[in-house]
Amino acid sequence: MIKVLFVCLGNICRSPMAEFIFRDMVQKRGLAGQFRIASAATSREEIGNPVYPPAQRKLREHGIDPSGKRARQMTGRDYEEYDYLLAAERRNITNMLRITGGDPQHKIRRLLDYSDRPRDIDDPWYSGDFETAYRDITEGCAAFLDYLQREGLTGNGKEKEK
Ligand code: 4NP
Repeated sequence: MIKVLFVCLGNICRSPMAEFIFRDMVQKRGLAGQFRIASAATSREEIGNPVYPPAQRKLREHGIDPSGKRARQMTGRDYEEYDYLLAAERRNITNMLRITGGDPQHKIRRLLDYSDRPRDIDDPWYSGDFETAYRDITEGCAAFLDYLQREGLTGNGKEKEK
């Protein structure tokens, strides 16, 4: 089982988009049973709120239904629970490290660090550009899943040690 937590500032735009896009992708590759996938915020701003309506619309354009998701804040326990904690942008990592107190197991990275062009995912909450966010997130999720499949689908090396 590979456990992946996507993280952004509010958990109503980028990280839930990543959660649902990645879940759809692993289902399409026949790998759903091998993953646990979730998302969380670094901030408390949007706790309990559903996915932001323009982000929901963008997902629905692609046949993905994110209803039921409610924003939650990441906790220190998530660091123990998940194998990969993937941030939308660099400043999320600063806040994640404040929550975890460090990253001794090297589980925290930006999602687009797995792509050919490592970069932040711009916040569509501010830019209004949900199409670019959708494309960037899809690129990152595909690159991350390709990476896992190349590595033999391991939960940060844990399965390899067994
Ligand atoms: P997200 O976007 O981090 O992609 O979910 C944001 C949503 C809400 C806020 C900031 C960013 N906010 O400040 O409430």
